[in-house]
Amino acid sequence: MHIEGSVALVTGANRGIGRALAQDLVGRGASKVYAAARRPEQIDLPGVVPLRLDITNPQQVADAARVASDVTLLVNNAGVSKYSKLVTGDLADIRQEMDTNYYGTLSIVRAFAPVLAANGGGAILNVLSVMAWLGYEHSNGYGASKAALWALTNGVRVELAAQGTQVTGLVLASTDTDMMAGFDGPKNRPEDVARTALNGVEAGRLEVLADADSVALKAALSRDPSETYPQVVRAA
Ligand SMILES: NC(=O)c1ccc[n+]([C@@H]2O[C@H](COP(=O)([O-])OP(=O)(O)OC[C@H]3O[C@@H](n4cnc5c(N)ncnc54)[C@H](OP(=O)(O)O)[C@@H]3O)[C@@H](O)[C@H]2O)c1
Repeated sequence: MHIEGSVALVTGANRGIGRALAQDLVGRGASKVYAAARRPEQIDLPGVVPLRLDITNPQQVADAARVASDVTLLVNNAGVSKYSKLVTGDLADIRQEMDTNYYGTLSIVRAFAPVLAANGGGAILNVLSVMAWLGYEHSNGYGASKAALWALTNGVRVELAAQGTQVTGLVLASTDTDMMAGFDGPKNRPEDVARTALNGVEAGRLEVLADADSVALKAALSRDPSETYPQVVRAA
């Protein structure tokens, strides 16, 4: 996937990692970057084309695919975290995470798959999270939605291979955006995550692990859960 000369669309491009991805795409010489946002008036990047897009709004998704019919690189970045517990959290929050992170992204993939096919195959980058791979009391609703998105990423990669669409999953841990404003620990810089992700897309990588935590949690998937969750074993 050559980003120079490509036509990209980034969801949630008004702030955080999406803004950094859109900025990096412009810097790499994409010929057009649609910066999609629920409120496009918030787009402050020079050199992009603002586009109104709430990924949970079917009409706006259909309109975006019609307007941005020249897209060759689709970046599914938009996401939401409500910090909901699965057992006692507000079910509306858990549904919003699934509606946005899973169903919203799925609807974008379905709308743009024919666009990418018509434009030669192209590529999709889906922004996942290490929380897909780790149970954590305060993010389990979010984690479930990102685990579903991980499965979606692997699934559509297989389904879209015949039309020549590369599908890359980006896995990352804490990154310095509004989403993690309440977290005090070490955080990635959004621009570093964007650079690593787009380097991976250009190199044809199917999965990009953006930081050491993502590498460690990927490795932990092969371990028995009793090793990953010793506190559960102690409490039993
Ligand atoms: N920050 C982290 O530590 C971290 C770690 C792992 C994964 N991620 C993932 O990285 C992606 C970007 O997150 P971020 O850290 O940049 O968070 P952020 O600063 O909270 O930005 C989230 C973005 O998603 C947009 N969005 C939310 N719901 C939407 C919808 N229904 N339709 C369209 N756009 C919507 C937001 O738009 P509004 O401005 O309109 O709300 C905003 O642009 C997300 O998928 C997130 O899950 C983040």
